[in-house]
Amino acid sequence: MGWPYRSFVRPVQRLQSSEGAHGRALRMLRLASSTKPGRGILRRLYRPKKAKVVNVWGLSFPNRFGLAAGMDKKAEAIRGWESIGFGFVEVGGVTMHAQQGNPKPRMFRDDRSRSLINRMGFNNDGSEAVANRIRSDLQRRGPLSCPLFVNLGKSKITPNEEALTDYTTSMERLHDVVDGFVVNVSSPNTPNLRDLQHESALGDLLSGLSKRLQELNNGVDLARPMLVKFAPDLDVDTLLGMVDVARESGADGVVLTNTTVRRGEPEHPSHGRFLSEKGGLSGAPLKSRSTALIRAVHEHTGGDWPIVGVGGISTAADAQEKLDAGATLLQAYSAFVFEGPSLVRNVVDGLDETSP
Ligand SMILES: Cc1cc2nc3c(=O)[nH]c(=O)nc-3n(C[C@H](O)[C@H](O)[C@H](O)COP(=O)(O)O)c2cc1C
Repeated sequence: MGWPYRSFVRPVQRLQSSEGAHGRALRMLRLASSTKPGRGILRRLYRPKKAKVVNVWGLSFPNRFGLAAGMDKKAEAIRGWESIGFGFVEVGGVTMHAQQGNPKPRMFRDDRSRSLINRMGFNNDGSEAVANRIRSDLQRRGPLSCPLFVNLGKSKITPNEEALTDYTTSMERLHDVVDGFVVNVSSPNTPNLRDLQHESALGDLLSGLSKRLQELNNGVDLARPMLVKFAPDLDVDTLLGMVDVARESGADGVVLTNTTVRRGEPEHPSHGRFLSEKGGLSGAPLKSRSTALIRAVHEHTGGDWPIVGVGGISTAADAQEKLDAGATLLQAYSAFVFEGPSLVRNVVDGLDETSP
């Protein structure tokens, strides 16, 4: 299915706005996965053949490769992602309050450099609505066959001093319908959010969340882990300081990395226009920075703190590089836009199964 996607769907998408194309693709996947026969077809077409089950945080992952945050902000197509064979799904970012996000256009694509720039600004329905949507899906169709994580952001109207309330409220609303949380303090598109990546602010936020999570986890069979997601724009020493704070504050692992606000040199005129857009850059140009940070954190923690590696993965070789650098689980967003659903099988079936 890679060929029809590349020859037909992608050229058509190029004629459309990036966000419009994204919305249509999401609706198609939701529709295709809304019936049992539809899910069966998706599974037959796309599911990896050589997946290896991995156990982390007491959860069983059908394979190491998951969907990164931002693709399904409202949790509209969770059955679709599961059916095409992702090993886990991260929905969101969601915030305590529903919000529109930034004005459009706010998502840009450059096919030649295989990268995206976005300044979405956490457009989402709010954590109450997202929790209800997931709950009704689970009630109708039963449990998912892969872990479901939710990315927690902070509402734009909430000042940083009240961030803990915003994140905690979302955590409480979603606790019974997800398998784990990713605390996002690294999106470049919410003013001042990345200030939470400073030691005392991060420590206060994560300790508060971890305390509440322990109380919520008391009532359930399987404790939900809490991960934290950092930006690639922190220098290595600062990042390692944040890692120490996060571990001391009770975080169970880390997602490396979010999008970057840095830009390389333009390769051609239209690339220059693309790079001048404000927001976070993702895809191929992020790959080596994200891998370097994964390696640094893995060495720093002696490998006993799980790392989810994300940034520029579009082939099995890219994925393998991140596993070799110390990642336990992997995710992608941008390559899905360029490759379509066959990305999952190409990556998972190409992995070296002797990886730890
Ligand atoms: C349009 C778009 C929206 C995103 N939204 C979020 C988000 O809400 N929360 C988050 O933590 N990361 C978000 N991300 C970042 C991705 O999850 C991922 O960390 C980043 O894109 C790097 O991976 P990639 O190179 O495979 O795209 C978003 C990325 C894109 C392109």
